Amino acid sequence: MTSRSVVGAISAEEADEVVFEILGGETGRADPYPLYRRLREGRPVHSSPSTGVWFVSDYGVAKQVLHDPRFGRGEGSMMGALADAEVAERSGEMRRSSRNMLFADPPDHTRLRGLVSRAFTPRRVEELRPRLVDLVDPLLDVVAGDQEVDLLDAVAFRFPVAVIGELVGVPEADRDQFRTLVRASTAMIEASPSAEALAEAQRSMGEMSDYFHDLVARRRREPSGDLLSAMIAIEDADGDRLTEDELVSTAILLFGAGFETTTNLIGNGTLCLLRHPDQMARLRDDPSLLLSAVEEMLRFESPVQLDARSALVDAEVAGRRVEAGTSVVTFLGAANRDPQVFAEPDVFDVARSPNSPLSFGWGIHHCLGAHLARLEGEVVFGRMLDRFARIDLAEEPVWRQSITLRGLEGLRVSAVIA
Ligand code: HEM
Repeated sequence: MTSRSVVGAISAEEADEVVFEILGGETGRADPYPLYRRLREGRPVHSSPSTGVWFVSDYGVAKQVLHDPRFGRGEGSMMGALADAEVAERSGEMRRSSRNMLFADPPDHTRLRGLVSRAFTPRRVEELRPRLVDLVDPLLDVVAGDQEVDLLDAVAFRFPVAVIGELVGVPEADRDQFRTLVRASTAMIEASPSAEALAEAQRSMGEMSDYFHDLVARRRREPSGDLLSAMIAIEDADGDRLTEDELVSTAILLFGAGFETTTNLIGNGTLCLLRHPDQMARLRDDPSLLLSAVEEMLRFESPVQLDARSALVDAEVAGRRVEAGTSVVTFLGAANRDPQVFAEPDVFDVARSPNSPLSFGWGIHHCLGAHLARLEGEVVFGRMLDRFARIDLAEEPVWRQSITLRGLEGLRVSAVIA
């Protein structure tokens, strides 16, 4: 429980202005943290008079909302509607059970996540470690040349797709086409995508869906050691298994959820090191800090900035009544800088301990790929520091305009080989 007062020290109208600046303003895009602080200190639980949406910037309250079964996707929620529309388009009928786990509430969520996590074990992820090094090294070769390079394009966009492709079992030759499709489809998880972005997202989802229907058919005929084959073979004690639609939407989800988020971990994390040379030097001297450094990157520049829920029934947030159907947005980036939980929250410290940011969410939807994402970070930053004696920022980077995800447009660097 938090001890912070939720009674506003700024007016609801002022808080709304801050929220709008965070969600769509230039200042919010460049540096949302002073705005988050203003909101957290002034109105940590803000019920917006103009939109009816609740915004939470306090760590303890955010965690409670994400953990509380009275908050979920809900039939009426925007994410649920998008998922249903996609399924309806593909199968010609509304079938709630075909939603992927990210968009589902229990009992569908419990069933889907249970079946998938049987195949997506920490052991399977750890087994990928040597392969991840093989995948990242050729990408880093490009950075090691004489020229300045966009590290985002050369490494951060390519590595996560290669890794998920490897895990799921998408042949190497097909992975490039996936980057474009997945990127377009991420509009689905934006809080308010434009009509064109949404149409493009639907088209990309359709293409990926066709691709995976084919791949599932191939793997049924000839299973291999990949995750898709393992998901096809999974059957629980009651004989339950994933349907064809569920297999396909889970494969698409893994690409959608694990691509741009990890791209942003790599981009944002590199920028953290470049902006804090003392911390980069410390990590170089003591590589045992790698995992802790990745956690701190996730906290300091969270790739996912907000996580939304809908009240499924009448409920309370921090003791205040919330009506069923109300949307509640938790600002993960604000919670991760809450001084009640993190000492000197605006300091980037690769050895921070304890460190438990909400960057992978919390509760039943806690990121299924968290182990994999941390491993990817460990491998990328470990190899980067091993191979380059110096890395320097070549150009001031610009943040992308996105409400949900925080990431850079590009990251031009120059590197000197060790
Ligand atoms: C869910 C963040 C990488 C697969 C989530 C959620 C967050 C998140 C915040 C919770 C969403 C919610 O509560 O609504 C991240 C970040 C990543 C990352 C910051 C990288 C740094 C990955 C990877 C994969 C993955 C690599 C798999 C390849 C998933 C899945 C879910 C999820 C399947 C849905 C879980 C559920 O609904 O039960 N992720 N993610 N993520 N993530 Fe990740």
